Amino acid sequence: MAKKITILGSTGSIGTNAIKLINSHPGKFEVQALTASKNIQLLAEQAKSLNAKLAVTSEEHLYLELKELLSGTNIKVAAGQEALEEAASMQTDIVLNAVVGTVGLRPTMAAINAGHDIAIANKETIVCGGKLITEAAKQKNIHILPVDSEHNALFQVLNEAQRDSIEKLTLTASGGPFLRHSYDDMQNVTIEQALAHPNWKMGPKVTIDSATMVNKGLELIEAHFLFDFPEDKIDIIIHPESIIHGMVHYNDGSVLAQLGCPDMITPISYALEWPNRIATTANKLSLTKLGQLTFIEPDLQKFPSVRIAREVLRQGGVYPIAFNATNEIIVQAFLAGKLKFIEIVPLIERMLNSVKNQELTSIEEVLSYDQEVRRITTDLLEKVNI
Ligand SMILES: NC(=O)c1ccc[n+]([C@@H]2O[C@H](COP(=O)([O-])OP(=O)(O)OC[C@H]3O[C@@H](n4cnc5c(N)ncnc54)[C@H](OP(=O)(O)O)[C@@H]3O)[C@@H](O)[C@H]2O)c1
Repeated sequence: MAKKITILGSTGSIGTNAIKLINSHPGKFEVQALTASKNIQLLAEQAKSLNAKLAVTSEEHLYLELKELLSGTNIKVAAGQEALEEAASMQTDIVLNAVVGTVGLRPTMAAINAGHDIAIANKETIVCGGKLITEAAKQKNIHILPVDSEHNALFQVLNEAQRDSIEKLTLTASGGPFLRHSYDDMQNVTIEQALAHPNWKMGPKVTIDSATMVNKGLELIEAHFLFDFPEDKIDIIIHPESIIHGMVHYNDGSVLAQLGCPDMITPISYALEWPNRIATTANKLSLTKLGQLTFIEPDLQKFPSVRIAREVLRQGGVYPIAFNATNEIIVQAFLAGKLKFIEIVPLIERMLNSVKNQELTSIEEVLSYDQEVRRITTDLLEKVNI
């Protein structure tokens, strides 16, 4: 029996990798719904070639254009944010959430309410709605299957039955394109340099987050919510080769790690096929060809985002939402050429200094707080003459 799948964000880096996997296993998956934002040309091509039942664009003004692109087919077309929730709720076995940003929150809740397992790449959703989402999933007996490579690695080697014997988790980080740069060298790096990740080919926002190491901060928070370990039990180490993706340290001295060549198709395949595995096109790992692996302590002076993320997690409440939202706005400004790379993290910290903590109890409250932080950050950027 083919496994029914819906992909939110099918036109992105994760989404297209998932489709590559689906195409390499004819008959294994049956695509229900596909969603995108502006790239409706690719969305329409994907929907036709995979014979999807529903194609959704989050942009209402693109509805007619998408309808036109899919005319003559039986594929239903919908548009707008609510249509994303409709796609997530549609009957399926698994929903892959591969959108970028907090726009993934509502569809994730919709998928949980509809009783679907979720393969989650969309880390911003876990960072901002982590507690609400994991509690709702637990209540409904839904599996949340991590796609982010580090969390997927931990998921593969973390034995829940031995939770009491786990001393700590380790997330590895490549260190991004500026690992070997001095703080002074980083003063004038360009957008192109920041977008040139040494190991991973990803969407622009997550690539900049890797360069600032905010990505690792978001992943620390994500790991906390997904695996329910406190901040001080989650280590971050730099591992420039990106071969070991995550490790679980047990109290008998054993450390279980997941290794593999850096290719998102591996964690995507594991999340989609769990508890089984399927073949992928990922390069096979040869340790002898690699020769050696290296590990470095993160330099918190050069990459203060890791220290900030730890403080964010210790504070809890709205801090993770503020951290994520302010970063998104500041990264957009950087990508638009409005500020220097080196200014990104100090601006995040400045914004976080004004946060008054509170506990939020619904996705609506989270989204409204998220919007408030975006407004305040935009004002802050105007004040600093950007
Ligand atoms: N790429 C990676 O290797 C990687 C690794 C680990 C985790 N992640 C996480 O996975 C998520 C996706 O990353 P990505 O690199 O695949 O991003 P991406 O390449 O930018 O793709 C994002 C997808 O979301 C859609 N989208 C964008 N804005 C939207 C909106 N407002 N409403 C609905 N859909 C929207 C895009 O549609 P259009 O194409 O039409 O714009 C696209 O399909 C992120 O949370 C990222 O942090 C990615």
